[in-house]
Amino acid sequence: MTGLKASVGSPYARILSVGSAVPSRVLDNEQMVQHIDSSDEWIRQRTGITERRWIAEDENLETLSLAAARQAIERAGLTASDIDAVLLSTVSHFRQTPALAPQLATSLGIVDAVAYDISAACAGFCYGLAQAEALVRAGQARHVLVIGAETLSRMTDVTDRATAFLFADGAGAVVVGPSETNGIGPVVWGSDGAQADAIWQTESWEGAVESGTWPALGMNGRAVFKWATGFIAGAASRCLEESGVSPDELDVFIPHQANNRITDTLLRYLKLPEKVVVARTITGYGNNSAASIPIAMESLLSSGEARSGQTALLIGFGAGLVYAGQVVTLP
Ligand code: UT7
Repeated sequence: MTGLKASVGSPYARILSVGSAVPSRVLDNEQMVQHIDSSDEWIRQRTGITERRWIAEDENLETLSLAAARQAIERAGLTASDIDAVLLSTVSHFRQTPALAPQLATSLGIVDAVAYDISAACAGFCYGLAQAEALVRAGQARHVLVIGAETLSRMTDVTDRATAFLFADGAGAVVVGPSETNGIGPVVWGSDGAQADAIWQTESWEGAVESGTWPALGMNGRAVFKWATGFIAGAASRCLEESGVSPDELDVFIPHQANNRITDTLLRYLKLPEKVVVARTITGYGNNSAASIPIAMESLLSSGEARSGQTALLIGFGAGLVYAGQVVTLP
């Protein structure tokens, strides 16, 4: 033996396509304040949200994920047999095992796919994108389907004033594949487990069985807001630096859709010029965690506000606490 062979990948990877799916049920702020001491005006001013999408009876995490994935595969000009890895980022798959990604792959007609779930909350899509880029460049997969999908309505306590108005459902997906030029910059990512209690599931599954209480999401909004407008602003800046992109060279900014006031603070910190197109899908879709960035990307492209080939900064941040961001060329 002359030594172990190593897999040979592509010099670069890029996002080939994006798809999305949102639930059919629309809930406005008046509907959300029925069980909490709040108002449409407060929610609009403090978050930017005017309405959100929650799943209807015939919709669930799987139906949303499949719809977004099918659109992404078709738009890439590929078929199921071209996809060899499926990564699902979600915190709302309510089975410890098996993961949902293998079932999604099978439903999509993808045979023998590498398939696993990623639990990185609102940073989940950017975590998945980083892994997809690495798999393609390392030669461990050729075309990777990355799905960010959530049904957070199933984990929302509608009587909790701190969260009831915020969380929502949806799915977005991209196909990442080989490229002659680079379309995905270096990822900037990390975590801080010391802040695990900033956003949490109110009951562990064991605790839920003992108490008979279905778990919900809890959040210390102020602590997360402070971290997102401080530390995350620095991380977003590092994404630009590490990709060698100046604020003037950026076309589009797609932060996780957590709160328009967080987005505004990031914009000021990064000193992005006015010409930069900024994602604001939280207004109509709420905060749908791992789904928010690909949904916003798809929305900006299909509305014509952003164009294929433009340079976009993505940054996701959330429960863990965890974060990840990268500069990409839009598909
Ligand atoms: O996606 C994962 C990452 N998540 C995030 O990034 C979320 C980050 N946090 C936030 O977006 C914001 O903290 C919230 C939107 C959740 C809350 O906004 P805030 O401006 O931080 O509110 P606050 O907790 O500082 O409260 C401000 C005021 C208080 O009243 P006083 O003390 O000033 O009189 C609260 O009692 O707003 C009051 N308040 C509300 N009023 C009406 C708090 N919640 C509500 C409410 N409706 N739902």
